[in-house]
Amino acid sequence: MHLLVLNGPNLNLLGLREPEHYGSRTYDDLVALIEHHCAQKGIAVTCRQSNHEGVLVELIQEAIGRYDGIVINPAAYTHTSIALLDALKAVGLPTVEVHISDPDTREDFRRISYVRSACLATVKGKGLEGYLEAVDILVEAIAAL
Ligand code: DQA
Repeated sequence: MHLLVLNGPNLNLLGLREPEHYGSRTYDDLVALIEHHCAQKGIAVTCRQSNHEGVLVELIQEAIGRYDGIVINPAAYTHTSIALLDALKAVGLPTVEVHISDPDTREDFRRISYVRSACLATVKGKGLEGYLEAVDILVEAIAAL
């Protein structure tokens, strides 16, 4: 089993950006956490981050035949991107949405998630550990296919 973990804009600045929402650990810390968790479960994982919507669309398209499932934190594109929703629907891979903070309890404009309808679950407000929960949900869903 090989999973793709995709992170959207500004998540490369974890540790620096708004620590009251996203904590003090860095993007590299996040990748190490996910890789360690997946290694313990005996599954392969590739983590990618981009600040560009089109690059994220291409990474989702290229996931066909390469990955068994996707964990995605589209960051601000969560609330704006029909292109990401369409890409996820097009590839049809099992996908779990994750957010470090809980966008539903923040500004009103964060309450809409365009990608949510293409995802089998959403994990939010659980910090970086939420990615591990998202991986576990995805692995169980793929195993049950
Ligand atoms: C986020 C929440 C989004 O509203 C925000 O734009 C982000 C990060 C999160 O992980 O909590 O960049 O997706």
